[in-house]
Amino acid sequence: MGSPLLEQVRRNGPVPRHVAIIMDGNGRWARARGRPRYEGHREGMRSVREAIEGAIEAGVEILTLFAFSHENWQRPAREIRALMNLLVRYAREEGPELERQGVQVHAIGEVDGLPPAAARAVADLVERTRAGARLRLVLALNYGARGEIVRAARRLAERVRCEGLDPAAIDEAAFVAELYTAPWPDPDLLIRTSGEHRLSNFLLWQLAYTELYVTPVLWPDFTREDLFQAILDYQRRERRFGRVPV
Ligand code: IPE
Ligand code: IPE
Ligand code: MG
Repeated sequence: MGSPLLEQVRRNGPVPRHVAIIMDGNGRWARARGRPRYEGHREGMRSVREAIEGAIEAGVEILTLFAFSHENWQRPAREIRALMNLLVRYAREEGPELERQGVQVHAIGEVDGLPPAAARAVADLVERTRAGARLRLVLALNYGARGEIVRAARRLAERVRCEGLDPAAIDEAAFVAELYTAPWPDPDLLIRTSGEHRLSNFLLWQLAYTELYVTPVLWPDFTREDLFQAILDYQRRERRFGRVPV
């Protein structure tokens, strides 16, 4: 509380309902300190807390965090092990606090493809926070957007074969219903940290009309003030959706 940026966000009015974040720059943060990449990931957990608390303070309804991509399996085994251990630790240690804060956790991606201990920890976290009504926290784990789109196409094909779905009846709404993100509206604002201007296979369908915000801040240095700054920037944008200005 008492943040001038937050007060400005509130004065400005509409806050993005759904904010998505590509949490990037952990490795560079560690390297700049001559420390192993793992330590950057560990520090990044604090930023996750900051983002969640900032989202709650600002009144964001849905916060989606890209935590581990399909492509991240190509990293060294040691780093993957460290990331999975951190995920288990996060789920266990933060569970009670998330529950207290009214955060309802969801997971998208091939969660079953995670190592069993990680998959179980995530399932437990989802279960224990089910009653949360203040913020929906969507964790993208073992997630890739192209894989998600192909999966949706496959599921529709199965419905054509098994349920007699008419291919002519497949419209955008039918497609959206088969995406992992079906329960939520598309992100209004996408934040990427560490200065990279790319999507890295994140929510390719859902970001069609999302406002993009890139900050040079490395993820372990990200605070709620950076979130408020991004929201302020968003509030100055004019979203047109292909129409002319009003
Ligand atoms: C983001 O930080 C964390 C994950 C992708 C899991 P990086 O590990 O990608 O950090 P950089 O991009 O190498 O600095
Ligand atoms: C995207 O970051 C994935 C996550 C943040 C989990 P990466 O660091 O893996 O993306 P690239 O390799 O820079 O595109
Ligand atoms: Mg990276």
